[in-house]
Amino acid sequence: MSTAYIFLSIFKPVTILFFCYIISSVSSVAIDTQHLDKRLNVPASYVAAPYYPTPHGGWVADWSESYRKAALLVANMTLAEKANITCGSGYDMGRCVGNSGSAPRLGLPQLCLQDSALGIRNSDHNTAFPAGITVGATWDKSLMYARGVALGAEFRGKGINVFLGPTVGPLGRKPRGGRNWEGFGADPVLQAVGGALTVQGVQEQGVIATIKHYILNEQEMYRMYSIAQPGYSSNIDDRTIHELYLWPFAEGIKAGVGSVMAAYNAVNGSACSQNSYLLNGILKDELGFQGFVMSDWLAQISGVPSALAGLDMSMPGDGLVPLLGDSYWMYELSRAVLNGSVPVDRLNDMVTRIVAAWYQMGQDKDYPPPNFSTNTQDATGPLYPGALFSPSGVVNEFVDVQDGHAAVARNISRDAITMLKNVNNTLPLSTNSSLKIFGTDAQKNSNGINSCSDQGCDKGTLGMGWGSGTARYPYLDSPMDAISSKASNVKYYNTDTFPSGLTASSGDIALVFINADSGENYITVEGNPGDRTTAGLNAWHNGDTLLKNAAATYSTVIVIVHTVGPILLEEWIDLPSVKAVLFAHLPGQEAGQSLASVLFGDVSPSGHLPYTIPHNESESPASVGLVYFELGQPQDTYTEGLYIDYRYFNAHSIKPRYAFGHGLSYTTFSFSDAIITAVTSLTSIPPARPAKGSTPTYSTAIPPASEAYWPANFNRIWRYLYSWLEKSDADAAAAVASTSSYVYPAGYSNTQKPGPPAGGAQGGNPALWDVAYTVSVTVTNTGNFSGRAVVQGYVQFPAGISYDTPVIQLRDFAKTETLAKGESEVLTLSFTRKDLSVWDTVQQNWVVPNVGGDYTIWVGEASDTLTLGCKTASLGCQSGLVSPA
Ligand code: NOJ
Repeated sequence: MSTAYIFLSIFKPVTILFFCYIISSVSSVAIDTQHLDKRLNVPASYVAAPYYPTPHGGWVADWSESYRKAALLVANMTLAEKANITCGSGYDMGRCVGNSGSAPRLGLPQLCLQDSALGIRNSDHNTAFPAGITVGATWDKSLMYARGVALGAEFRGKGINVFLGPTVGPLGRKPRGGRNWEGFGADPVLQAVGGALTVQGVQEQGVIATIKHYILNEQEMYRMYSIAQPGYSSNIDDRTIHELYLWPFAEGIKAGVGSVMAAYNAVNGSACSQNSYLLNGILKDELGFQGFVMSDWLAQISGVPSALAGLDMSMPGDGLVPLLGDSYWMYELSRAVLNGSVPVDRLNDMVTRIVAAWYQMGQDKDYPPPNFSTNTQDATGPLYPGALFSPSGVVNEFVDVQDGHAAVARNISRDAITMLKNVNNTLPLSTNSSLKIFGTDAQKNSNGINSCSDQGCDKGTLGMGWGSGTARYPYLDSPMDAISSKASNVKYYNTDTFPSGLTASSGDIALVFINADSGENYITVEGNPGDRTTAGLNAWHNGDTLLKNAAATYSTVIVIVHTVGPILLEEWIDLPSVKAVLFAHLPGQEAGQSLASVLFGDVSPSGHLPYTIPHNESESPASVGLVYFELGQPQDTYTEGLYIDYRYFNAHSIKPRYAFGHGLSYTTFSFSDAIITAVTSLTSIPPARPAKGSTPTYSTAIPPASEAYWPANFNRIWRYLYSWLEKSDADAAAAVASTSSYVYPAGYSNTQKPGPPAGGAQGGNPALWDVAYTVSVTVTNTGNFSGRAVVQGYVQFPAGISYDTPVIQLRDFAKTETLAKGESEVLTLSFTRKDLSVWDTVQQNWVVPNVGGDYTIWVGEASDTLTLGCKTASLGCQSGLVSPA
C-alpha cells in the first residue's frame, strides 16, 4: 500500500490531510492529542468511569509459567529495550502490517503482526478461507475449529507471530455496518463460539491470536480520531455491553487469547485505546485478560494517558500522522518513564504481558521469522518501504503454506450454504437441465481475481468483502467453473442487465447470481465508504431488476446470493417463478464446487442464517441505522439496549422475512426424546471468585538515563521508530523527575486491586461456566435425502422476574454428522450459569434472577421453529410446541 493510499484512508477531506501533514512536519515530536478525548456531546447518562491502575498480568495459573519466564527476561532489559518492544517500528517499516521492536541481546525477536481473519493478507501461496459470516452460517463447531487450525498453520508457516483475528466486533448491530461479515453472526453466542474456536485452533499452532475490535466498532464511517475530529462515541449502558457485545470477548479470553486489539472509536466518550474502564477495568480485571492490548492501526491518540489506561502495544507505532518518524511511545515512552510520568511499574507490566504471550505460545522454541512481505509481491524490494531510503533485500520467499487446507475451506463454504426457499423441491437440479445463468457474480473478475487492492471492488464472484480483512486469492473456483464442469447444457450471460429479447424454451431453468458487498472505511466502493450507504440493503448492480426480468421470462428461477449480510428480498421473493433461493454468503476461494455440490444434490444444504432478514429496514429500530457527520464527536447511542436482530423482532412481535437461524434442507428432520438434566445447582450469585495469584515484581525505581542513550555509531534509518534518546534529552528528562510531578487523571491510583467479584479467571468468575443443565435430543432424518441438521438451543427466562429480558436468547447449538435416510444422532447442548444469568448493574455481577425459577429451554432448527421445550423446574420436556417467537 502506498504512502498516499494510507494517508487518504485516514484523513478526509484531503485538505485536512495536507494541513496536518504540514503542522506535523514542523513539529519534532508527536502532537499530544489528549484534548481530543473530551466527552464533547456524549449524553450525560453514559459514563466512562476512571479505572486505575492497570492490573498486573500473571495472576492466572494457566499463564504463571510463561510469566515466570517473562519476568526473568524482563528483569534484564534496559529501559530502551522495554520501550522498544511495546511499539511498532512504524508504518511500512518491515515485512508485516505491524512489526514490533525487538530485544536481540536477549533473544527476543521483532514480532510480525499480520492480517487477516480469513487468511494471510497480501501474500501468496496461502488459502483464502471463507469469511467469518460464512463460518457462522455453518453452525458447525468442528469446522470453526478446523479453520482456526488451518489458519494458524498458515500464519506460522509464513513466520507470523501474531494473527490479527478473529473479528468478534462488530457484532452486527447495524445491518449496514461495513465489517459485520468478518465476524460470525449477529448474536453474541454464535459470535463467541466462532471466535473462541478460532482462537483455540490458531493458538494451538503457536500463533498468538488477537480478538478485535474492542469494542463497539459497529460502523465504519467516522470511526477514526484525526486532528480534525474524534472518532464516534458508542454510548452504551453497562448491562447491554455485558450481555451482548462483551460476551464474545469474554469467551475469547476464556479460550486464552494472547492479544486484544482496541478499536478506533470511543465508548461513552473515551477512545477505546485509552479508555481505562474498558482496558483496565473490564478487560484486565473483570475478564482477567493476561495477554497484551494493542491499538488498532493509528488509533493511539496520546502517550501517557494510553499507557496508564492499559494499552500495552502501539501499532504500527506512529503518532496520528504516519511516516514522519513521530511516535507517542518509543523514544517518547523512554522519556515519559525517565521523567516519572509513566510509572516504571506500568512499563514493566506492558512488556511482561507481551513477552509472556510469546512464551505462552511457545514462540521461544524454533519459531520461523517472516518469509513474506505484505508490501509487495516481488521477490526483492525495500526492507523498510516507509523509510524512502531503505536498504533492499529478499522480501518474499513464496513459501507454500496451503497444505491441503482448501478442503477445509470448501467444506465450510458448502456447509454454510443456506437454503431459504425451495418450492416443489425445485432443487436439487439434474445435471441434464437446460441452465441459463445470469449475473457477473457467477464468474471471476475478468480483470483478474486480485486486481483490486484489498478486494476493493465488486467485480465478479464475491468471495469476501473489502479492506484489511481480506487475503489474495491463490485461485478462485467460480460458480461458472464448477457448474459448467458438472452440467452439460449451460448458457452463461455474463451481465447484470437482463439481455433484451430473450425468450425461454420449455424446461429452461434460470440461475440468477446477485451480490451485496461492504468493507473497511479506507476504501470506497461504488459510493459505499465501507458501510452500505448508497447501496442500502438491496442487492448491488440492480440485482433486483435482473431477477425480476428473469422471473418474467422463465418459469423457474433459482437465486444465488453472495452477500456480506442481510439483503432485502421483497421485490422478487414472492414472484411465482422464483422457486428457490440459496445464500452462499462469502465463500472465499471455494465458491464453485461447494455451490455445485448443493445445486446438483451431492449434498443437502445445511447452513442456517446467522442474522435476521427483514422485509424492510424500518422493521429494525432506528437507533441501529448508521450515524453520519456531526459537529464535534458523532454520537452513536445504543438506545435499543438488548434488542438487536431477532431479540428486537421478537420483542415487537414482528415476523421477519426469514428468521435468525432459518435454513432448509433437501430432507426433513424430527427432534424427539429430549431429556433435560440438572447438573450444577444455581445460587443467586456465583460462589466467591478465586483470589488473584502472585504476579512478577520488579524494582520500581526510575532507571538511569543512560539506559536510553543512543548506542554509538548506530546506523539510523530515517523515519524508523526507535526507543533511544539523545544523551542530553535523556538526561534532561531524568532531571525533571525529581522536580515536578505529572498530573494524573481523575481517579488515578497506583495501588493494585483484589479485582471485582465477577472476575477470578480468564473470562470472569470460573463458576460462570458451571453447567446448570444439559438438554439432549434425538435428531432423526425423516426425509428421503442424506443431510445434516442443526439444533439450536434458546433460553427463555422465568416469568415474573424483575429484569426485562429478550423473549429467547441463543445459548448453545450443535450440528449432526451427515445422517442417511432414517438415521438418528443424539446431540447434547449445555446451559451454563452465565447463560441463565443477567448482568446486574448494581451488584456488578451475573445474577440468576430467580433461583429455582422455571426457565424454558427451547430447542429447534431456527429461532422461529422451536417445537421442543424443556422446563427447568419440572425437568420435563415437551414436543409439538409453538415457538415463543
Ligand atoms: C485496521 C483494521 O481495523 C484492523 O482490523 C487491522 O488489523 C489493522 N488495520 C491492520 O491492518
